Amino acid sequence: WLDKPLLGKKVVLTVGASYEAIDPVRGITNISSGQMGVALARACRQAGAQVDVIYANLQVPLPKGMAYTEQAQSAQAMYDAVFRRLDLGADVFIGVAAVADYRVKNRATQKLKKDGSGSPPVIELTENPDILQAVAQRENAPFCVGFAAESENVLAYARAKRAKKGVPLLVANDVSVAMGQSSNQIIMLDDEQETALPEMSKDAAAQAIVSRLATLLARSSD
Ligand code: C5P
Repeated sequence: WLDKPLLGKKVVLTVGASYEAIDPVRGITNISSGQMGVALARACRQAGAQVDVIYANLQVPLPKGMAYTEQAQSAQAMYDAVFRRLDLGADVFIGVAAVADYRVKNRATQKLKKDGSGSPPVIELTENPDILQAVAQRENAPFCVGFAAESENVLAYARAKRAKKGVPLLVANDVSVAMGQSSNQIIMLDDEQETALPEMSKDAAAQAIVSRLATLLARSSD
């Protein structure tokens, strides 16, 4: 990247998959290797940004050169870590992490045992905060980039998600192509255009996202 389009910008990212405990040894998580998020963190750094990563359950190493990294596990822990970083000032927030929509309400402090009664334990769920939506809708929000991993009706769901969460740039992908793979096929949706890219490496997709992000960010601060 010769022109460093994000030079001097502060970027906060969530990466990986949240984990919601049921008891001390069991939990609910999402499938996300963290590859796309790590590729984006790297691309932002290469574009000149100062990058903070809040990560959970990564299956790939964090990229070098991050300004700040913090491990979080649950959605609530991620939410708290993100807002602490945003309070220090940020230009961009990118939510790449697969975050659980629900957490366990009746979490057990001791390991659940089979009690022999034949009736399985009931796990009650309660809603987690939506980190991306909360960031996008806060006063003086940073420029927000969200993801929509869909298994059907990709474009329709992505358009609805972008509108509901109030996110200027949303990246949609079909999970059947991307999951656990090193390549991805994305569609970028913003106020001006919808750009469908061919299947490419996650690093190349990340660079395309950062290019578009930098263009929109420069325009929004004009
Ligand atoms: O609604 P859905 O989970 O499909 O939205 C995906 C986008 O929202 C991703 O960018 C993800 O990181 C973000 N998200 C979040 N907090 C949640 C749920 C999703 O930041 N609790």
